[in-house]
Amino acid sequence: MMMMSSRLSRWTPLFFVCALANLLAAEGLIVAGLTWPTQAISTPGTLVAVHLLTVGWLLLLMLGALFQFVPVITSKPLVSQRIALVTLVAVQGGLIGMICGFSRLGGESSVHAVALPTGGAAVLVGVLIASWNIGVPLLRARPMTLPGRMILTALAFLLVTVMLGLSFALALTVPALTPDLAPLLARVGDHALAGLGGWFTLAANGRQLQIADDVHARARGARHRG
Ligand code: HEM
Repeated sequence: MMMMSSRLSRWTPLFFVCALANLLAAEGLIVAGLTWPTQAISTPGTLVAVHLLTVGWLLLLMLGALFQFVPVITSKPLVSQRIALVTLVAVQGGLIGMICGFSRLGGESSVHAVALPTGGAAVLVGVLIASWNIGVPLLRARPMTLPGRMILTALAFLLVTVMLGLSFALALTVPALTPDLAPLLARVGDHALAGLGGWFTLAANGRQLQIADDVHARARGARHRG
C-alpha cells in the first residue's frame, strides 16, 4: 500500500481541472463566434482558441496522465511530485500570458510584445521541467519498452513545437531584435504538425499500446490460472 501511494501523482486531478476549464473557455469562444470558422484562420480569436485547446486542454491533460502513468509502467518514481506542480503553474500561467499577447496581436499596445514571448517562455520552462520529471524514470527503466520509447520521442516533438512557437512569438513581437527568426514564420505548418502529429499522437498511442499490453497480459494470466 505504501509503495502504491508513493507512485500516485498528487497533482493529476488539478491538471485535469485546469484542462477542463481551458476546454470550456475555448468552447465559449467558438459558440460566441469569435474564432474560425466564423473568423479567419490566424485571427487573434482563432489563435487564442487553438492554444486553449492544444496547450490548455491537450497538453495539460496528457501531462497529468503521464505523471500518473509513467511511474506505473517503469516502476520508478517521478523525479519530484512538487515540480509537477511547478509545471502546472508555469504552463497555465504561461498560457494566460499567451492569450493576453494573442488578443492584442496587430494592435498598437505594447502589452503583447511582452505577454506573448513571456507566456511562451513560461510554457517552455514548464515543458522542460516535465520532460525531466518524466524522462528520468523512462530512461532508467530496463528493459526500455516500446511505449516508453514512444513517450520519449513524443516529448522531443513537444520541445520542438514549443521552441518553434516561442520563436514565432519573438519574430512577431520584437522583429527588430530577432530578424533571423522571421523566416521561421513560414514554418507554422511544421509547428502544428510537430504538436498534433508528433507530440500528441505519439504520446496518446504510447499510452494506448501499454494499456493494450496490460490487458493481454492479464487475460493470459487468467487463462493460465483457469
Ligand atoms: C502543444 C503545443 C502547441 C501546439 C499544438 C500549437 C499549435 C498551433 C497551431 C495549430 C497554429 C496555427 C493556428 C492558426 O493558424 O490559426 C499555431 C500558431 C501559432 N503558435 Fe502555436 N502551438 C503550440 C504551442 C505554442 C507555444 C508554446 C507558443 C508560444 C508563444 C506558440 C505560438 C504560436 C504563434 C505565435 C502562432 C502564430 C504564427 C503565425 O501567425 O504565423 N504556440 N500553433
